[in-house]
Amino acid sequence: MNKKIACTGIKPTGAPHIGNYFGAIKPALGLVKDYDARYFIADYHALNAIKDPKKLKEATYEIAATWLACGLDPEKVLLYRQSQVPETFDLSTILMAFTSKGLMNRAHAYKAIVQANKEMNKDQDDGVNMGLFSYPVLMAADVILFDTDVVPVGQDQAQHLEMAADIAQSVNHNYGKQLLTVPQPLIQKSTHSVIGLDGRKMSKSYNNTIPLFLEPKKLRKLIMKIVTNSQTVEEPKNPDTCNIFATYKLFASEKQQAEMRKKYKAGGMGWGYAKQALFELMDETLTPYREKFNTLMENKDLIDKILTEGSIKARKIASRKILFLKKEIGVA
Ligand code: TRP
Repeated sequence: MNKKIACTGIKPTGAPHIGNYFGAIKPALGLVKDYDARYFIADYHALNAIKDPKKLKEATYEIAATWLACGLDPEKVLLYRQSQVPETFDLSTILMAFTSKGLMNRAHAYKAIVQANKEMNKDQDDGVNMGLFSYPVLMAADVILFDTDVVPVGQDQAQHLEMAADIAQSVNHNYGKQLLTVPQPLIQKSTHSVIGLDGRKMSKSYNNTIPLFLEPKKLRKLIMKIVTNSQTVEEPKNPDTCNIFATYKLFASEKQQAEMRKKYKAGGMGWGYAKQALFELMDETLTPYREKFNTLMENKDLIDKILTEGSIKARKIASRKILFLKKEIGVA
């Protein structure tokens, strides 16, 4: 029997952080056993925001090296750059014809920018390029191209995927047949929100992230910046409202969690101690991954080779789908 298809992308807009890891990378790698997986680097999505070629290129390598360092096996998973699979853009053009402008107006990400512009008395579309406005269409094309069944993503991408499903359904409805597979998001409930340094959701836009592959000294320095309350060392503390413990939980075994909870509740433990414990656990867990990541970043030819091979395999599948669709819609 054919396996179901899992597909997801990460936008190369900066160093990947632990929110990316627990929200997208780890769940995606967990699907590899049971699904045919296609995981890519959404470089054209990043272009909407990053206009510096060196930065875009470096960030693209960083995402590829992250997937590989975290255990993605390119023999089993198609790993590629979105820009290397141009069939995506054929499909995106087709989907544009089935996407109402009103749907795009309702996208949370776009609406947030409009709102911010209004608050600053700017033109409501200030700083919005067409790539950003039609971002959900390209994202729909990314996944629909491969007849994707499930898309492992963080909660913040849920609405984009509802839109992708809407668009696929409009196409199917128009032609009266199931031309496109309607994708479903797969959202990790337990890691809904990885908490950032300041206690808000971890996000590059809040500048509160902990990058995955920081050198130990820098990692320690960042962990020491986690915001806590002003309880004294003696006071018993509540782990469930603590930003340090929120991150500790992600890395700790059940046993380690239980032991740390006891220390919180007993009193006599200061925030400095909890931060040091978090640092030691994270450093121990992440060091082998960081070493692989660093080795890969020094061997960009190897990354290029893997991505190119991935894109060749991906295009074989994608070009069949596009030819099929073109015939169905009357342009081939
Ligand atoms: N929009 C996603 C993000 O910002 C990245 C992305 C692009 C994506 N295309 C996708 C995710 C397709 C899942 C499927 O994180």
